[in-house]
Amino acid sequence: MCGIVGYIGKGNSVEFLLNAIEKLEYRGYDSSGIAICGDDKIKLMKKKGRISVLRKSVAVSKDFDVKKGVVNTGIAHTRWATHGKPSDVNAHPHVSQSGKIAVVHNGIIENYLELKKSLRRRKVKFLSQTDTEVISALIDSLYDGKDFLKAVRDTVNLLEGSFALAILCSDFPDTIIAVKKDSPLIIGFGDEENYIASDVAAFVDKTKDICRLEECEIAYFKGDKVKFYDFNGKELDKKVTHIDWKIGSSTKEGFEHFMMKEIMEQPEAIKETIAPRIVDNKISIKNLDELVESVNKIYIVACGSSYHVGAAAKYSFEKMTGITTIVDLASEFRYRIPAIDEKTLVIIISQSGETADSLAALRESKRRGAKTLAIVNVVGSSIASEADHVIYTWAGLEIAVATTKAYSAQLAVMYMLILYISSRVGKISDDIYREYVKHLLSLPDFVQKMLEMKEKIYDMAKKYKDKDNVFFIGRGVDYASCREGSLKFKELSYLHSEAYAAGELKHGTISLIEQGTLVIAILTDKKLFEKTLSNIREVQARGATVIAIANEEKLNSVDLEVDEVVPIPNVPKMMLPSLTVIPLQLFAYYFALLNDRDIDKPRNLAKSVTVE
Ligand code: AGP
Repeated sequence: MCGIVGYIGKGNSVEFLLNAIEKLEYRGYDSSGIAICGDDKIKLMKKKGRISVLRKSVAVSKDFDVKKGVVNTGIAHTRWATHGKPSDVNAHPHVSQSGKIAVVHNGIIENYLELKKSLRRRKVKFLSQTDTEVISALIDSLYDGKDFLKAVRDTVNLLEGSFALAILCSDFPDTIIAVKKDSPLIIGFGDEENYIASDVAAFVDKTKDICRLEECEIAYFKGDKVKFYDFNGKELDKKVTHIDWKIGSSTKEGFEHFMMKEIMEQPEAIKETIAPRIVDNKISIKNLDELVESVNKIYIVACGSSYHVGAAAKYSFEKMTGITTIVDLASEFRYRIPAIDEKTLVIIISQSGETADSLAALRESKRRGAKTLAIVNVVGSSIASEADHVIYTWAGLEIAVATTKAYSAQLAVMYMLILYISSRVGKISDDIYREYVKHLLSLPDFVQKMLEMKEKIYDMAKKYKDKDNVFFIGRGVDYASCREGSLKFKELSYLHSEAYAAGELKHGTISLIEQGTLVIAILTDKKLFEKTLSNIREVQARGATVIAIANEEKLNSVDLEVDEVVPIPNVPKMMLPSLTVIPLQLFAYYFALLNDRDIDKPRNLAKSVTVE
């Protein structure tokens, strides 16, 4: 969704800001804008459409020639419309009527109509339909001509809703103020220059020394210094964190799309996630004992693909730990009254660590006394900071909107967790535990082997690229993989697809199967193989074309008689989803490629969903 960046330093602020918002393009946006402070005034450019349009206008404007050797400040934004349609005027930054204050904003100001009304009474005129414009107007109206920081503090205390802000004032060309409430904002410390962004991707190529603003905090930048305050004006002491991502960068490194680069990075992401946590052939996850002690129920709560990780893990979680495990969508969980108490462990899974519904579910769980564990990819994100305990997936920076390597790393954490808890509660023998750990360590190699099927999957996508409807069917853990496969396909192809529990087809959905309907059937679970095979025969009898993703061992003894077969190595059932997902990701990718879709930034989607 929307993206914020800010720059303060003696370098070329304009160049930094434009490059930085480009790195946030993947989050989804419909307009962009930039403001810098210079010659005692705010210089502004905002454009509907792609950043390239903004770039062109900036390039021909004299306003954006940056002076060398002086402190340059600037802010920029990518907007994903909420209040008011995508347009030049609704794009950020929003500048106050006097021209003194410029603001970029992520989030939603819930009391903006009320504030607008009272500002209008004081003859303030508004140009846009946005909620953000009240912020610049309010700061300006509270500014006494001397104390910029106080005007910002007084303003944020009047705002209701969620807001991450970066603010300029033309009276202070060497100053930027950043504010955070319920929407992420990160500071990056560079070499005699500092950065602000709603997502580290914006500046990770410049610095890995970061500091996340916590709830209701203000960062006040002056020259190369930065001070932190709370909303009451109390100065805060904040620590710098070094993000140690070994893999992933904000460039495509020769790949046509980030998504393909990230698909190929999966073996490494799994290895980085697992290897440091296996010591002497034992899974070692610090400080977890206390959290899992006396737990009698587990909730796994998440959105989208992260939810599918929970759905896939549930089967082994329950079977191997003997603990009731419920998987729920965060958007549903937060508004129900789930039966949770201090004996419940709530596991929140999130790549970004900022998903609004997942964060709300975490807060609700804590309020009800449950123990909380977050599985998160982005270091120091809101969910990671607020949970009782966090296990990071070391997948590195993930740029493509459609998640791949973070999904695989999340699955890897779940396997470790299942083994860890089942051994803690005495449900697994030492021998079996050791066997599993061995398999876990070889998982990256199996995933690598699956990736070698790239060409085969490309050929399949080419053959079926004109299909306009796909069904994914499977049972048990394969049904969970179907849901992820179908989501990936939908996100990328913009076509209808459906994931169905194979045994449920007959209860209504089979009426949709007709001559030539494409059905992707998943049969990796040996025990359920014959059952799903019967369902394949049922759809074939009605004319379906079938691609089977099937257990390799079973394939040696059974002739499937389907249109295409993708064999899946016979790893322990718990780990099958990690292999099954590879052909599903590749199929969705190639299908979209052959149909000329916007692979890294599919329409209407955002990487980090920070509104509900
Ligand atoms: C997956 O490809 C999606 N982009 C989406 O479903 C995503 O998994 C979901 O929005 C949850 O995000 P999170 O993991 O960052 O919380």
